Amino acid sequence: MLLLSPSILAADFAELGENIRKADGAGTDYFHVDVMDGMFVPNISFGVPVVEAVRKITKKPLDVHLMIEKPERYIEKFNAAGADMITVHYEACEPLKETIDKIHRLHMKAGISIKPHTPIDVLKPYLADADMVLIMTVEPGFGGQKYMEMCTGKIRELRALYKENGLERDIEVDGGITRENIDVVLDAGANVIVMGSSIFTGNIAENVIYFKEHLKKYEN
Ligand code: DX5
Ligand code: ZN
Repeated sequence: MLLLSPSILAADFAELGENIRKADGAGTDYFHVDVMDGMFVPNISFGVPVVEAVRKITKKPLDVHLMIEKPERYIEKFNAAGADMITVHYEACEPLKETIDKIHRLHMKAGISIKPHTPIDVLKPYLADADMVLIMTVEPGFGGQKYMEMCTGKIRELRALYKENGLERDIEVDGGITRENIDVVLDAGANVIVMGSSIFTGNIAENVIYFKEHLKKYEN
């Protein structure tokens, strides 16, 4: 199933509720919530109170991407705030298996993310455990960057690895996805598409409708 997950990092924060309602009403599947701590990435975004606020205005699943050091410290808090799925970074989380288990015990979906220069190989011990792998297609930290072509091969490699192991899992891609290059990631095997600027720049509802239609056409 192909799913759209707009990243609210690119929304107008002064109009966050309205921006979310527009994307929701136009039929988005998820909302992607980028939490940054200024340590794991050189930027600070927002945290638990924003997830709580967003939870009140949409019933769509909240796909929380933790770009923070030692994310295992905050799993319960983001769960209580209303997260439906939590993705932690391989590079930032030492007790990775335990953290995935903790996310599952709290009845959420668990994702593992890797940065552009981290190879797919490191994920092998966790393939069956995680519901999803998030392949970063830009260096994490900022919206509006350019898609890194070197990541296309990693998407393909992971889809092949899942297949070899008889696993059906989600591959999420995040960073620099646009109308021009969305087919590159779809062709490679990604199925959860995060988009910040491509959704929240210009007419939000029109953008969501465009990409949902595109995914529907692609699926058939
Ligand atoms: C980057 C974030 C992304 C980002 C995507 O660290 O994880 O979710 O907001 O934004 P665009 O689509 O503008 O690259
Ligand atoms: Zn993200």
